[in-house]
Amino acid sequence: MSRQATSNCLLVTPLPRALLPATAAIHSDGVLTVGGCNVLALAEEFGTSLFVYDEQHLRDRCREAIGAFGDGVAYASKAFLCKAMATLVHQEGLCIDVSTGGELRVAVAAGVPGERLVLHGNNKSARELAEAAGAGVGRIVVDSFDEIDRLETLHAETGWLPRVLVRVTPGVAAHTHEYVMTGQEDTKFGFSIQSGAAAAAVERLSRLGRAKVVDLIGIHAHIGSQIFLLASFVKAVEAMAGFVSPLGLPELCVGGGLGVPYVEGEEAPTIMQWAATVREACQTAGVPDDVRLTAEPGRAIAAGAAITVYTVGTIKRLPGIRTYVAVDGGMSDNPRPVLYGSGYEAFLPRVTDAPRPLAATVVGKHCESGDVVVRDAHLPDDVAVGDILATPVTGAYGHSMASNYNKVPRPPVVFVRDGKANVVVRRETYDDLLRLDDDL
Ligand code: LLP
Repeated sequence: MSRQATSNCLLVTPLPRALLPATAAIHSDGVLTVGGCNVLALAEEFGTSLFVYDEQHLRDRCREAIGAFGDGVAYASKAFLCKAMATLVHQEGLCIDVSTGGELRVAVAAGVPGERLVLHGNNKSARELAEAAGAGVGRIVVDSFDEIDRLETLHAETGWLPRVLVRVTPGVAAHTHEYVMTGQEDTKFGFSIQSGAAAAAVERLSRLGRAKVVDLIGIHAHIGSQIFLLASFVKAVEAMAGFVSPLGLPELCVGGGLGVPYVEGEEAPTIMQWAATVREACQTAGVPDDVRLTAEPGRAIAAGAAITVYTVGTIKRLPGIRTYVAVDGGMSDNPRPVLYGSGYEAFLPRVTDAPRPLAATVVGKHCESGDVVVRDAHLPDDVAVGDILATPVTGAYGHSMASNYNKVPRPPVVFVRDGKANVVVRRETYDDLLRLDDDL
């Protein structure tokens, strides 16, 4: 039964188990454990709000990506990055896609060799490119003619000969939110195949290749994010094949973008299915077999691995209107509901499996009405002030897009595994909030 159909019934379904991280288990008393750690005890020990990541879940998804695409597949670190995550991803054999000097710095600080990094970005500065050269970054995905100018200048200054891919726009509108669609013609990203810009970029980089200024090794496309329909990827491959095949370049990267389920009733293909479909589409479209096919999933690796744990601070029952359940976080730790209208589930880890008959809106503590965590939440009827409340599938684009709005310190990140909790990012303090300030 869909949630819509049941929302007015007395018994609304419990949280779907499939939305919880891989090692999630429910104790006989109903309490949730992740990585062998009791979630209520984690909240007690580390405070709320809190990101809890299931280390095994992250490793499982990394292994699936390697199994699906082989060596060269990269984790898109914009989804979630800290030193521990960079280390884990590197240990599992993935490359890391970084899209700014900041992400590059974190990966390097984690000890990831530059060779295993791929630098992205539609507006890489000369400084970021120089930092990439300094780190010996393995691949640069070139996004503009201005960037090619900068690479030429950098070569003249340092002699660096970067391996590059050209990011192309296949002219395909992926089936997703317009803010995260990137494959259509009207985009700030990449070079259009249709307009001839992509051919001009390849031409110029090939010339620079002969002059040993760059080493052009492939073509890249990324059509968007949170895509459920594999047909969108097939369309992109079809649109690119005629351009890619005659070039005889060794690599083709299809970017990231595979969607994940966030709420009851949503289903997404697995990384394996995604890879198989893309590979088949390449074959059908005549992309030569010896072209190395790679990808760079972010969300599909990190999203389902984490839950965010909050404490309920106030409950307002507005008769005939709605019930507001306010928690000690909000748009500063998860801006996705505000930015994209994204839906989430909510549940109480003390009674993980309980029916959730109470229709409520879970909100944060920020000073605006848009500060919604879960607009259409369902919760157990006995939810009370002081309860620990959690939202699953918050591992991607939550912590990485967190802010200090209203000077709320950002939550810590805890990795859990085999009954042990490891704080990999500590909670911000008020002192942290002041560390950049100076007196008038
Ligand atoms: N590669 C490139 C070049 C990208 O721009 C992105 C994401 C990825 C890979 C990874 O995409 P994923 O597999 O995670 O979908 N903040 C938005 C998502 C923005 C995605 C930006 N680029 C959200 O929260 O939905």
